[in-house]
Amino acid sequence: MGVNQCVKVTLFLSLLVLFCSSFSSSEDVKLKVKGVTNIATTDENFICATLDWWPSNKCDYNQCPWGKAGILNLDLNNTILSNAIKAFNPLRIRLGGSLQDQIIYQFGKQKHCPTMRKKENGLFGFSVGCLPKKRWDEVNHFLNKTGVKFTFGLNALVGKKNSKEDQLNWKGDWNPNNAISLMKYTVSKGYNIDSYELGNELCSEGVSARIDSVQYAKDITKLRHIVNSLYPNATTRPKVMGPAGFYGKEWFDSFLQHVGPGVIDGVTHHIYNLGAGVDRDLISKVQDPYFLSKIAQTFKDVSTAVKEFTPWAGAWVGESGGAYNSGGKDVSHTFVNGFWYLDQLGMTSTFNHKVYCRQALIGGNYALLNTTSFIPNPDYYGALLWHRLMGTNVLSISHDSSSYLRTYAHCSKQGNGITLLLINMENSTSFDVSLVNDMNLYPEELASEGVNTVNLMDSLKREEYHLTPKDGNIQSDVVLLNGTPLELTKSKEIPELKPKIVDASSSSPIKVAPHSIVFVQINNFNAPACAPPTK
Ligand SMILES: *[C@@H]1O[C@H](CO)[C@@H](O)[C@H](O)[C@H]1NC(C)=O
Ligand SMILES: *[C@@H]1O[C@H](CO)[C@@H](O)[C@H](O)[C@H]1NC(C)=O
Ligand SMILES: *[C@@H]1O[C@H](CO)[C@@H](O)[C@H](O)[C@H]1NC(C)=O
Ligand SMILES: *[C@@H]1O[C@H](CO)[C@@H](O)[C@H](O)[C@H]1NC(C)=O
Ligand SMILES: *[C@@H]1O[C@H](CO)[C@@H](O)[C@H](O)[C@H]1NC(C)=O
Repeated sequence: MGVNQCVKVTLFLSLLVLFCSSFSSSEDVKLKVKGVTNIATTDENFICATLDWWPSNKCDYNQCPWGKAGILNLDLNNTILSNAIKAFNPLRIRLGGSLQDQIIYQFGKQKHCPTMRKKENGLFGFSVGCLPKKRWDEVNHFLNKTGVKFTFGLNALVGKKNSKEDQLNWKGDWNPNNAISLMKYTVSKGYNIDSYELGNELCSEGVSARIDSVQYAKDITKLRHIVNSLYPNATTRPKVMGPAGFYGKEWFDSFLQHVGPGVIDGVTHHIYNLGAGVDRDLISKVQDPYFLSKIAQTFKDVSTAVKEFTPWAGAWVGESGGAYNSGGKDVSHTFVNGFWYLDQLGMTSTFNHKVYCRQALIGGNYALLNTTSFIPNPDYYGALLWHRLMGTNVLSISHDSSSYLRTYAHCSKQGNGITLLLINMENSTSFDVSLVNDMNLYPEELASEGVNTVNLMDSLKREEYHLTPKDGNIQSDVVLLNGTPLELTKSKEIPELKPKIVDASSSSPIKVAPHSIVFVQINNFNAPACAPPTK
């Protein structure tokens, strides 16, 4: 090779390197949606968020991220808070959490209403606290005004005792008297309760306390009888939910076998699959498809147990914050957390879960709303888009491309056709997604590519919602929708969420940029499972 040629080759290689490093690559992906039948169904109101009891002096890792977000301190007059909830019309809210089993209610014989204090040997480091009657009124007026579907978690430890030798195990029957007083008052005032849940994280190994599975079944059966007698009209009767804790096969199987038919309406379990909020690896975990998929077995196991023992009760994720101890302070309220959250909404609905409650609506580092400013974080908008777009019928969807592209399909909530959720966790590859409608009736025929499948991109009209982080910074608190930052309006309303309309004649694939989350509503995708039922 002459000097001249050598220079040319070097120049060419340099240009090639320059080209590869400054442009991201793109990859074609063919998505196959099976539209003939559904594979699972969710509740109409799948999206749920939690409120908690934490006082402002709840601290983790040298910071106290709850501020005034606990239910006893929360500013219920805050305009953003009301608007953020009303935008769902309705939003499900579950009030519960660690301190729930130390809260007494100022009703009936309970006149004294102690303030919760830090206490060295108390459960979770706190003394017994109390829900004042006045606060219950305020909370219910707020829930009514904002149209919330409300799940209330009851204290399950009243009447039980533990011993010095066996501190974790709480024995004896649940004493429901204080709960009955609260419920009678609630009925007399006409406050709407969607569901009562018994206890918090007292099942399986427990966290600060645990109850034996057979005893728990007995206690929740008692709650069922109380609810039936206080709410004689079955049409408007609140649901009964439990056990509101971490899944363990032995405990759950035993509990579900010991609750008789019709005792529980939903089986709630909790998820914190990202580990501790302080974990330095949190940011990598939420972008790692292999890691994110590891929790799928739990969703499958709960769903299988429910099908086997209590098929009348749907599985719910009753509380899930991702990272425990209030979340990660640089991750859990930012754009990148949506990779974990929206992926998990997709995953749980695929495993036939009915409802998913995100810890928290407000409070900690992992909330949908900022704890002090109440301004919605990126996951708030992800949740709202899911709520508005994704219907109750879950469809099978698959592709042979990168595992960093996560895909989910449901029948659309409004109108015909389907809505896709596409999550691109790659940092430099974009995906050009085209769709195939797999009309085969039976899974075995899936292999017969081309038969009964229609290539669709030239006929599909679609509405696209592309979510990306501000300035390309995945740890931003600000999310863009189709390139425009989502910000409250001047009157502190949630902004309109407008799709980009892609006209059918363009026949172009859906472009899913690196580090983006995309919802696509396709109205004329012909999925029999999504058509109105025929007789
Ligand atoms: C909230 O508003 C109600 C009525 O609008 C009022 O009675 C109450 O004092 C207000 N609370 C706060 C904390 O501002
Ligand atoms: C609010 O309260 C009114 C009067 O009790 C009731 O008719 C209405 O159904 C309630 N709305 C909700 C969403 O709870
Ligand atoms: C039960 O509640 C429903 C819905 O509010 C109402 O239509 C029905 O009349 C009630 N039934 C009885 C027996 O009161
Ligand atoms: C809430 O917003 C403020 C100001 O934007 C920010 O400094 C703070 O870190 C946010 N809090 C959380 C928990 O995200
Ligand atoms: C992009 O992702 C790859 C593979 O996961 C990783 O090795 C690399 O560090 C990432 N680059 C940036 C800039 O985040």
